[in-house]
Amino acid sequence: MQDGESLGIGLAELRIAIAGDLHGQWDASDERLLEQLAPDALLVVGDLSDGQPRIPQRLAALPLPLACILGNHDAGRDPSGRTLRRQLDALGDRHCGWGLRELRPPGLAVVGARPGTAGGGFHLNRASQALFGPLTLEESAQRIVAAATAADPALPLVLLAHCGPSGLGSDVADPCGRDWKRPACDWGDQDLALAIDRIRRHRPVPWWCLATCTTVSSAARESAAASAATAPAPPTSTPPSCHGTAAMSRAANYATSAGCCCGMATPWR
Ligand SMILES: [Fe+2]
Repeated sequence: MQDGESLGIGLAELRIAIAGDLHGQWDASDERLLEQLAPDALLVVGDLSDGQPRIPQRLAALPLPLACILGNHDAGRDPSGRTLRRQLDALGDRHCGWGLRELRPPGLAVVGARPGTAGGGFHLNRASQALFGPLTLEESAQRIVAAATAADPALPLVLLAHCGPSGLGSDVADPCGRDWKRPACDWGDQDLALAIDRIRRHRPVPWWCLATCTTVSSAARESAAASAATAPAPPTSTPPSCHGTAAMSRAANYATSAGCCCGMATPWR
């Protein structure tokens, strides 16, 4: 959890907890921790429980403002889309994939990117196609932009995504260390990158994106935490990146106390 002032976005009074890549590891102890932390809102970035309904149901019962986007594991091993449907039903309007969720209080506009992504280019898995139908990269980007356009301009805007627009890198110093190697996933969601470019024409910077990296080894998480103090800010001349976000990664691990979690926030410049 990190306050907005330290991120330089003028949200000194806003405290956001981030949880992601839970993969079944969420129970009453996490909820007690949340109670102690008392964040203004909880953002959940997917891969909750590999298709089981328990965690979506628990999240939906939490007594605090919450927005969620599902990840690639949330369809389980069910290509029919029925498992994914159950997850969405359990979350109700808390799920904001391709949509807008305004949290009042505390006063935060959350726009969801494409749900179910495993990262890397543009791909809809079979469960997503069964549920949402065939969709092009352009159509997906348009949905994200439309949701952002509908957001109250008076509210700070958060883009919520399971995977980032430009990948997490594959070097030791990157947030997930060397877990990612070509041609594996998470090399940036092109529809999200396109949407961000378009949204930025209409809303002031900074922008944020929250993303996770799946199946992160504990060594990689420790590497991310260790590099938090020295992680460089993303360069202004290149597309937005999740690099330089390890501080929030470390905070997310703390906020959830789950064993497999790597939520990230990137201030877009
Ligand atoms: Fe994932």
